Amino acid sequence: MKSLFSAILSAAALSASFTTAQAQTGERNIIRISTDNTDLVLEVGPNNRLYQTYLGPRLMFESDLHNLSWSQHAASDVSVSARGWEAYSTSGNEDFFEPALGITHSDGNMTTYLYYVDSTQKPVDGGTLTRINLRDDRYPVDVTLNYVAYPKENVIKTWSEISHREKKPVSLSQYASAMLYFNEPEYWLTEFSSDWAKEAMMSSQKLQFGKKVIDTKLGSRAAMHTHPFFEIGFDGPVEENNGKVLMGTLGWTGNFRFTFEVDNVGNLRVIPGINPYASIYQLKAGDVFTTPEFIFTLSYDGTGQGSRDLHDWARRYGLKDGQGERMTLLNNWENTGCDFNQDILAELMKEAKHLGVDMFLLDDGWFGNKYPRKDDHAGLGDWEETRDKLPGGIAALVKAADDAGVKFGIWIEPEMVNPRSELYEKHPDWVIEQPNRDTYYYRNQLVLDLSNPKVQDHVFGVVDRILTENPGVAYFKWDCNSPITNIYSPYAKDRQGQLYVDHIRGIYKVLDRVKDKYPDVPMMLCSGGGARCDYEALKYFTEFWCSDNTDPIERIYIQWGFSQFFPSKAMAAHVTNSNKSTSVKFRTDVAAMCKLGFDIGLKELQDDELAYCRKAVAEWKRLQPAVMDGDMFRLVSPYKSNHAAVEYVDKSKSSAVVFAYDLAPRFQEKLNAVKLQGLDPDKRYLVKEICLMPGSESLFPQDNKTYTGDYLMKVGIDAFTCSHNSSRIIELKSL
Ligand code: GLA
Repeated sequence: MKSLFSAILSAAALSASFTTAQAQTGERNIIRISTDNTDLVLEVGPNNRLYQTYLGPRLMFESDLHNLSWSQHAASDVSVSARGWEAYSTSGNEDFFEPALGITHSDGNMTTYLYYVDSTQKPVDGGTLTRINLRDDRYPVDVTLNYVAYPKENVIKTWSEISHREKKPVSLSQYASAMLYFNEPEYWLTEFSSDWAKEAMMSSQKLQFGKKVIDTKLGSRAAMHTHPFFEIGFDGPVEENNGKVLMGTLGWTGNFRFTFEVDNVGNLRVIPGINPYASIYQLKAGDVFTTPEFIFTLSYDGTGQGSRDLHDWARRYGLKDGQGERMTLLNNWENTGCDFNQDILAELMKEAKHLGVDMFLLDDGWFGNKYPRKDDHAGLGDWEETRDKLPGGIAALVKAADDAGVKFGIWIEPEMVNPRSELYEKHPDWVIEQPNRDTYYYRNQLVLDLSNPKVQDHVFGVVDRILTENPGVAYFKWDCNSPITNIYSPYAKDRQGQLYVDHIRGIYKVLDRVKDKYPDVPMMLCSGGGARCDYEALKYFTEFWCSDNTDPIERIYIQWGFSQFFPSKAMAAHVTNSNKSTSVKFRTDVAAMCKLGFDIGLKELQDDELAYCRKAVAEWKRLQPAVMDGDMFRLVSPYKSNHAAVEYVDKSKSSAVVFAYDLAPRFQEKLNAVKLQGLDPDKRYLVKEICLMPGSESLFPQDNKTYTGDYLMKVGIDAFTCSHNSSRIIELKSL
């Protein structure tokens, strides 16, 4: 063992440029990345490679860092002494399990060994950035590991940069964002599977020896079948209020992959990154391959605390205008589809005003002349107002909105094209499509090749033209309804392996330009429902559309899933006519837990229903400090009961609001009190049911009574009933 070990040491020592004083003197080089609650500790081993020695609750004493060992978790097979938890394990090394990085060098060699060079720490917005430089001793390959620790939010964001100075390009076959290791008795993965109208469905399974992979190969509507986030429970399946939980999410709008591997001695490694599927990336000398950011938190009190930390982080650092207010709106999609004209829209704008919302949002169907957009078969790509439908164009619509007293927003899907469009006729080479095979279509459309800078200019031009000609446009809903089909780029030529990656980077280049020129225009991210929901895209978007499924029963589950990672203000929810067996109150109450909107014809509503909606809009605005910007507590899970309850507490703990739902209770089911959370135990709160249907009285037994926070958290409130599909909103105000 010793001889192999010293051979490795001397190989590292040979490369004087990166041999540190530490390696020569035997001093230990420990790198601590800390939030207020969590420590991630890395250490340069005696062989000058970088290892994770700890990830868990923050250690009280600095001196204890020296008790951690770089090889403490090594496999029992100690004859291979360099084995341990290498911070960014590489292919071809002695680790034998899944690596983070796979490189084929320009001479065909497929091994990479990374040695520590140096590291720095400096303050950045909200936290501390640690950069650690690593380098191969035999090939001029550099990797920089980046970690930003946000102390207050207990969040760590990590990504890697890969570059080289070899004579010819190298091939990257694996390029993970990071690698994390755990040594715990059990690992329980919660995944979020999805499909159109079935987003964020949660299920848990135990991880045992071997690999579990969650990935997507859809390219553009990339999160349609699974979302880029996961949870791992270490004491059993994740729980809301107990246990150590890892919650991680990747900021990448394209193909992603999470690999979870339990090794021969029962350690777990978690490897998040871009999915390298069909994406062997040719990296030129001097170019830097920057991976997406992996954002994670470790909670020691279940997923509830983890979510609240992520929500705080998102509002401060993750979302476009995360601290700002959100606009309520009336959308026309579920109401009119593509069947409207200028007069109909002008009437809807007046309805929006009457409803009390801030904005009217015009959806699909407003563009195309040679191939008018009457349905989803034609017109995508031709972003000019359909003249016979909208003779005054967007300008007249902005004016009509102004006259009505609301703002005007508009739907676009600028990354896509229908073959029946002038754009396709003019630029067939701008489209991702096979030159020598039959084309298959998803929603009758194809994806524009955003790896091509000319196409980027075109897509930016769509937004730029609308806003230059109509500065009054106040909002965009940016949709993406197709995965990448027929993967082939005429632009990429012999670099097809880069398309999935460069296409997404092309989208970010466009979004960067939009954000630079129009920093204050809010935008909704949409992808045939919620198939785009990641924190890289959300740097450019104020909110995302969770699902085309607006049945409120389904929405309770969908919102429950997304709320694990996103604050309410990032999640758009609209009241529609879906599932009319539920009341308008029920539908509105469910949508009011997120960024509230409506997509319903007001003429279809009874007077009392309309009055209810108007009241709800006003109340929603009043309750913003709790619902949009406060702390969320998921009190009763629809997955575990016939009810659901969610509570939002404002940051000063002076007010709170509880949304309680009876879904399908059994006959005379035993109803349990709902114990509240997050209140000030010493304060007295007035408890009151709000948002009652006009003319009805509260049957809430504790209505208008006062209780201490202590009582409300220990004894609770009787929020549930045995009715089906009924809802109740209860406000608490401190006295
Ligand atoms: C997608 C969106 C919907 C709507 C339609 C329009 O399906 O998710 O909200 O905008 O496109 O075609």
